[in-house]
Amino acid sequence: MAALEARALTKLYHGRRGTVRALDQVDLDIPKGELFAFLGRNGAGKTTFIKVAATLLLPTSGEVRLFGEDVVAHPEAVRPLIALVPQEGRPFFHMTPREHVYEYLRVRGASAESAGARTSEVITAMGLTPFENEPSYRLSGGVQQRTLVAMILATEAPFLFLDEPTLGMDPFGRRQVWEVIRRAVRKGSTVLLTTHYLDEAEQLAQELAVIDSGKVLYRGAPEALKSTVKREVRLQFSGGFTAKELAEYGQVIQDRNRLVLLTMRSRVRELTDRALERGGEVTVGPVTLEEAFLELVGRGIEEEQ
Ligand SMILES: Nc1ncnc2c1ncn2[C@@H]1O[C@H](COP(=O)(O)OP(=O)(O)OP(=O)(O)O)[C@@H](O)[C@H]1O
Ligand SMILES: [Mg+2]
Repeated sequence: MAALEARALTKLYHGRRGTVRALDQVDLDIPKGELFAFLGRNGAGKTTFIKVAATLLLPTSGEVRLFGEDVVAHPEAVRPLIALVPQEGRPFFHMTPREHVYEYLRVRGASAESAGARTSEVITAMGLTPFENEPSYRLSGGVQQRTLVAMILATEAPFLFLDEPTLGMDPFGRRQVWEVIRRAVRKGSTVLLTTHYLDEAEQLAQELAVIDSGKVLYRGAPEALKSTVKREVRLQFSGGFTAKELAEYGQVIQDRNRLVLLTMRSRVRELTDRALERGGEVTVGPVTLEEAFLELVGRGIEEEQ
């Protein structure tokens, strides 16, 4: 049995601008003990999926089961099994990080003793020790966000929903959070994480799903998604070439003052030589998840238009 099973899950929102199909017949299984990432553009439906699966929102039709329990029919059976970092959640103004973690564990039924020990452990692991007794209103945004993630990871709940957990964190903070997430997975939790940082998904996820307009476009390993890009290497140019000149060598992605070209290995020598002769700069590297994502979702956008 999978940890999470969604079947024909559909959610419509009826608003002033008509009906939005936020989830459209989604079928998805997330295996137990896995770190699963959700990728998709703004408005793709990721948070809606999480809210439905976490018993916060009723679906229009279809079903979700968590460890076999139907989330609509038996939310009370599901809630002890899950914990959730809401997207852009905020800690309570006057409570400290330590109080947040401790009180949350107590509310969930932990004894004073075990909640105290667990709180200390998580506060240390998350690098929150210097801030543990400061009221939240005095903390920076990234530290507030880390407090929320600490609360959720401290629960060691069987299923953790992390909706953009590292939003607004510096590169050190992100890595610290990654480590604690990995530890939760090693201890047996299943994690569903959303992120717009594709390097984060590449670092953490065993599998991922790309969703767009409420539909699953891809589900599988990050490596397999990368191999869907039909080109072998990624060249990045600053100067030297125009987009039009590069277009005959492969796929060009315009990125502010740089041009990214996805092309075949056999063309690299010629392209780098010419770029350097013309006084440009060029870097050569492997195709990343970001390009695979842009290509996959970009195709969908073109079809829409
Ligand atoms: N309460 C609501 N009422 C009406 N429409 C909504 C509501 N919540 C979300 N939507 C719409 O549903 C769609 C999916 O939104 P959702 O928040 O699930 O996207 P997301 O993938 O989490 O995006 P992001 O990456 O920006 O967080 C969007 O078109 C959004 O505008
Ligand atoms: Mg969202």
